[in-house]
Amino acid sequence: MPDLVLVEREEPIAVVLLNRPQQLNALSDALMDELVTRLQELDRDDAVRCIVLGGSERVFAAGADIGELARSSAIELYYARRVERWDAIRNLWTPLLAAVSGYCLGGGCELALSCDLIVASETARFGQPETSLGIIPGAGGTQRLTRAVGKATAMDVILSGRLLSADEAHAAGLVARVVAREAWLDEAKRVAREIASKGPVATRLAKEAVNRAYESTLQLGLDYERRALYLSFASEDAKEGLTAFTEKRKPDFKGR
Ligand code: COA
Repeated sequence: MPDLVLVEREEPIAVVLLNRPQQLNALSDALMDELVTRLQELDRDDAVRCIVLGGSERVFAAGADIGELARSSAIELYYARRVERWDAIRNLWTPLLAAVSGYCLGGGCELALSCDLIVASETARFGQPETSLGIIPGAGGTQRLTRAVGKATAMDVILSGRLLSADEAHAAGLVARVVAREAWLDEAKRVAREIASKGPVATRLAKEAVNRAYESTLQLGLDYERRALYLSFASEDAKEGLTAFTEKRKPDFKGR
């Protein structure tokens, strides 16, 4: 069996590519298991400071594996512990950047939404077509998409099955940057290297703080941000970053 997920280490970044081309990277149980295992391994490795998650030029992922869904009962799906896998991705410490080219549908769109930011090729198409199959998004689509793009666009995408172009997704706030078709992965890696060059303690705390803005009340988010600031201040990286600036040199961050 070929690997369902390919990992390339290019320290300080790592690139993880979904690899089920015949099924348009449909997110089978086996693929999701392998993906979470690989991501958690990279997350534990201090040498990896940002992870890029991508598919192929044609497709990021065409959603959950429809064949598997069609064969499963509700209780089988429940016992497959799918929710735990999605929570594991959400709980990664290392900044996770989705590099999206081509179709990004259903669970694929939810996977991209679970990443910290999305860099999209101009060819990217985002959608939640589950209602066409008589089901609804089940890995955060109704919640994360709505928070990312607002009720009007989320309702349109989820109820009508309309696909958003890369430019529409960018204008709506779903996508951070739109890049040229031929450079989608290189540009995503370039952004990942920018992120990886910053203080690792700070980027981890900052991503957590931004996620609080997205997931909690303003006051709880502000409380978290203050504590995270003091924690970042206690790091060796903060000393190094502040000193390097005054000494007019590049900081040498250790992630401590
Ligand atoms: N699960 C399982 N297999 C899938 C799949 C999915 N989500 N999406 C595509 N595939 C398979 C197709 O069955 C086909 O397999 P086959 O060659 O054995 O027949 C292969 O991938 C290629 O797909 P195909 O539909 O022929 O490609 P296309 O370029 O004509 O269309 C899409 C591409 C993405 C528009 C179309 O495949 C599609 O609508 N997929 C389902 C999207 C979806 O509803 N996702 C939500 C799932 S909950």
